[in-house]
Amino acid sequence: MVKSKGWEWEKVKGESEKMWKEPAEETYYLVQRWEKQEKKELLDIGCGLGRNTIFFAKQGFNVHTFDISEDAVKRTKEFAKEENVTIDIKQADMLNIPYGANTMDCVYSRNVISHTDTEGVKKIISEIYRVLKNEGECYLTLGSKDTWGYKQKSWPKVDDNTKIRQDEGPEYGVPHFYADYELIIDLFKDFKIIDIKHIQDFYKVNDKISTSYHYHILVKK
Ligand SMILES: C[S@@+](CC[C@H](N)C(=O)[O-])C[C@H]1O[C@@H](n2cnc3c(N)ncnc32)[C@H](O)[C@@H]1O
Repeated sequence: MVKSKGWEWEKVKGESEKMWKEPAEETYYLVQRWEKQEKKELLDIGCGLGRNTIFFAKQGFNVHTFDISEDAVKRTKEFAKEENVTIDIKQADMLNIPYGANTMDCVYSRNVISHTDTEGVKKIISEIYRVLKNEGECYLTLGSKDTWGYKQKSWPKVDDNTKIRQDEGPEYGVPHFYADYELIIDLFKDFKIIDIKHIQDFYKVNDKISTSYHYHILVKK
């Protein structure tokens, strides 16, 4: 299995840092959905700067989170203090989720579990299954094979689905796993699939429009 490597969050400053403090849009929907189902214990895998972790905590969930990056953990702790919310936070690797079996009502993870190879993704999905209670739900995203990164010939290939990112920035040297629909169906065969979306995002980098595709996946144990 490829070695895990966290983001270099010290490279994320200014306008970009502001963006990473705003909750992702699906979190608003998930709060409604999971409140209605009376879910309480929520695990956010890979908190980054804490935007989703803090949002879920503010809505009344008991939020547990971790990240492999020491800087991410430190900055999320500071953010929680500023916002006056209590969260359970650790530094850990998602390949071994630091929680017991059947402890979580819901698991959320945005743009994190792709940061390993095929063997790693399989291990993480089995870890998510282990920590979820029966009827527990998981919402996560996976990078898509339609994204430009998968087509980079100069990025070292780890396996048929995985490349190591080479452009300068916080993700330099971080493994990226890319999925397609068939692979997702196979990866989540132990779960009940509720919804799969393939979403294209547009953003500006140095005045140039760039685009990326991700799968958004909602499953139930
Ligand atoms: C794209 S950021 C997303 C952060 C956050 N989920 C969000 O939406 O703002 C990816 C995060 O995954 C973390 N990460 C990468 N590999 C990891 C691993 N093996 N275990 C835990 N966290 C990891 C990175 O350090 C980084 O904070």
